[in-house]
Amino acid sequence: LYIGVDLGTSAVKLLLMSQDGRIQKIVSKEYPISFPKPGWSEQKPEDWWEKTVEGIKELTEECDKSQVAGISFGGQMHGLVILDSEDQVIRPAILWNDGRTSKETNYLNEVIGKEKLSEYTANIAFAGFTAPKILWVKENEPENFARISKIMLPKDYLAYKLSGVHCSDYSDASGMLLMDVKNKCWSGEMLNICGIREEQMPRLYESYETVGTLKREVAEELGLPENCKIAAGAGDNAAAAVGTGTVGDGMCNISLGTSGTIFISSKEFGVDKYNALHAFAHADGHYHLMGCMLSAASCNKWWMDEIIGTADYAGEQGKIGDLGENHVYFLPYLMGERSPHNNPDARGTFIGLTMDSTRADMTQAVLEGVAFAIRDSFEVAKSLGIKIERTKICGGGAKSPLWKKMIANILNIKVDVIASEEGPAMGGAMLAAVANGEYASVEEAAGAIVKVVDTVEPEPELAGRYEERYRKFAKIYPAVKNLFS
Ligand code: XUL
Repeated sequence: LYIGVDLGTSAVKLLLMSQDGRIQKIVSKEYPISFPKPGWSEQKPEDWWEKTVEGIKELTEECDKSQVAGISFGGQMHGLVILDSEDQVIRPAILWNDGRTSKETNYLNEVIGKEKLSEYTANIAFAGFTAPKILWVKENEPENFARISKIMLPKDYLAYKLSGVHCSDYSDASGMLLMDVKNKCWSGEMLNICGIREEQMPRLYESYETVGTLKREVAEELGLPENCKIAAGAGDNAAAAVGTGTVGDGMCNISLGTSGTIFISSKEFGVDKYNALHAFAHADGHYHLMGCMLSAASCNKWWMDEIIGTADYAGEQGKIGDLGENHVYFLPYLMGERSPHNNPDARGTFIGLTMDSTRADMTQAVLEGVAFAIRDSFEVAKSLGIKIERTKICGGGAKSPLWKKMIANILNIKVDVIASEEGPAMGGAMLAAVANGEYASVEEAAGAIVKVVDTVEPEPELAGRYEERYRKFAKIYPAVKNLFS
């Protein structure tokens, strides 16, 4: 048995997988997120650990615990976790969707320069990346900065608590802007720029490599065998790609979670010349390009929970009529935007409202706005000559048949649906299985385990109408962006 842990932004999801890749049980445990100032976003690593321990216990309560052979992860990326010399968390983690680092991001991109950053790391600075956060702590909390003994990413904190090993993996570490992605090692130049030393950084592994086994006291508390292996795991997008079988060359996965991402796997290392897409290592040992929007399913959640005040998401979506007809547009930038605008100050906007606009039109606009924003990153990929005809899909938003239909028609590609939307947790369990030698490679595991159960095809007439509407959508942000600052 293998456990995949998806350390998400709203909850940790844990999945128990049998040796042959069947899902046995899924457990989810929520924890709070705090927004101490507009655009800031933090969580307590201690909450992640507490809920993961609770979750593992619940996940394994009916199974033969002695059979649990491995645990691995997909984790929310880029978050800065810092520990002192006593292994205590110094301050709450600053998350991937935190926009406080405009000044540091500008310094990196303009003073160090995008060309240098791209040479050192294959990427430029985005507000959510880890390096600008380190600079922010250095400038704004010097007493915390001085206490840093270990730097890690969110899921690495769990691996550390479970195994005692200070580790990370290439896919997740790619998003720190501290790693030379092409050569898979820390960038000495970037560590210098941030004023940190290599011994503060975790040791790097491939996602499917074993970093250690359970610490004795943790094994006792969880009731799991001490020789249960901990594999390094991956950033949640790379883990989701594994879980949806998006490995090898030229495959695509779209994730509709708190964030929205479009992920394109590649056997070769490559960078887009504008650095509009992230060029990161993949969990299969190769590379990928990715566009990331900061608010995807979270826009719908905000609209349903905060504004309309309903838990009946499917019921609200049922009121939407003919797709393609809607004069309302929504810019989904509730936390600023990463790809492709790189603007932490961007904000959400409804536009085109009239006296006859309905709640259903606005719900539709929210869902479409997210799909249009994913199309923005898809356009960047197309401009690089990448040809994509089909994609997998995962994340909470992928449960909605309507949203899948919108994605298929707005991007005008086929959407392959797999049995479970639990991309990162499934990927985590698969990585643990590979680390245990159940499969020779991640590609082999994906080939054996992941099955497409349905395909949503674009409809030419609807795709045509959406094409026109996307042209309009694409003009809105440039027209209003000066209002956001
Ligand atoms: C990717 C990113 C998000 C988080 C979500 O660059 O920031 O997708 O990983 O957990």
